[in-house]
Amino acid sequence: MAYIELKDVDYVYPLAKEPALKNVTASFERGKFYGVIGENAGGKTTLCNLLRGLIPHFYKGKLTGEVLIDGEDIRTLNMDVLSTQMGYIFQNPFTQISGVKSSVFEEIALGMENLGVPKEEMIEKVFAIAELLNIEHLLQNNPNALSGGQRQKVAFASVIAMDTDTFVIDEPTSQLDPDGTAGIFEIIHKLKEQGKTIVLVEHKIDLLAEYADEVLVLKKGELLAKGRTSEVLSDFSLTEQGAMIPHTVSFYKEFKARGHEFSEVPITKESCVRQLGGMLKEREGEGSV
Ligand SMILES: Nc1ncnc2c1ncn2[C@@H]1O[C@H](COP(=O)(O)OP(=O)(O)OP(=O)(O)O)[C@@H](O)[C@H]1O
Ligand SMILES: [Mg+2]
Repeated sequence: MAYIELKDVDYVYPLAKEPALKNVTASFERGKFYGVIGENAGGKTTLCNLLRGLIPHFYKGKLTGEVLIDGEDIRTLNMDVLSTQMGYIFQNPFTQISGVKSSVFEEIALGMENLGVPKEEMIEKVFAIAELLNIEHLLQNNPNALSGGQRQKVAFASVIAMDTDTFVIDEPTSQLDPDGTAGIFEIIHKLKEQGKTIVLVEHKIDLLAEYADEVLVLKKGELLAKGRTSEVLSDFSLTEQGAMIPHTVSFYKEFKARGHEFSEVPITKESCVRQLGGMLKEREGEGSV
C-alpha cells in the first residue's frame, strides 16, 4: 500500500470558479524525495495544502476523489495527529512565524514545546538546528524583525525541529542566495538519508535534478507528468508546456544539434562533465591513431 494515494482528485477553493486541482491521480512512497514543479498558479501549493490536510480541514471548498494517507481517508484524519506526522514549511515565511514569541530561540522551540519535549533536550536541539542553518547569531533576535531570507531559515528550523516523518516544503529558498539555497538542499538531502519522506516545491531545477527521486509537473491544476527525475527532466515535450529543464539538458540539446552524441541525457552537472570527459578521451584516442 502506498503511503499517500490521490485518486481522481478535484479541488475548488471556496468562491473560486476554476478548480485548483483537476483529476489528479498520484501515489507517494515513504522515504522518497518528490520534487514538484510547474508554472505559477499550477496548483503546487494547493497540492501541499492537500497532502498536509489543510484541504479539506482548513480550506473548505469542494474536494472530490480520494485522498488516502496510509489507507485512511484524509477527511476522517485528525489534524493534530497529522501535524505530528507531517511538517509543513509554507511558501510564505511571514505566515509561518507564529507572532507570539519574542525571540528566534523560542520560535524554533515552539513546536517542540507543544509536543512536550523535555526542556534540556529542547535547548540542545534548538542550538543544533541553529548551527545547521547558520542562524546562531539570530537566536536572541525578534522573529518579527527578520529579513525574508532569515525568516525563511527560521521557519525551516522550526519545522525540522519537530522531527516529523514527512516534510512538505513549499519553495523554501525563494528568498535565499545561492549559498543559502545550497545549504537548505544539503539539509533536505540529509533528512532524506534519515528515511524521511520529502515533497518539495522548487523552481531551482538543477538542484532537484541532483537530489529528487521523482518529479511532478503541474499545470493549471493538472498533473502533466510524474516519474523518475531523469525521465521527467529530460522530456523536451514538457518544456513546451512551461516546465523548465536543467541547464545541462539545454546544453545537451545544443550539442546534439551539432552532431555530438551523449550516451544518456545529462540531467546533472556531474553526468554532463563525465560524458564530455569520455567524448574528449575518445577524440584524443582517434587523433593519436
Ligand atoms: N486560498 C485560495 N482561495 C482561492 N483560490 C486560490 C487560493 N489559493 C490558491 N488559489 C488559486 O488556485 C490556483 C492554484 O494556486 P496555487 O497557489 O496552488 O498555485 P502554485 O502552483 O503554488 O503557484 P505559485 O507558483 O504562484 O506559488 C490558482 O488559480 C490560485 O489563484
Ligand atoms: Mg505556490
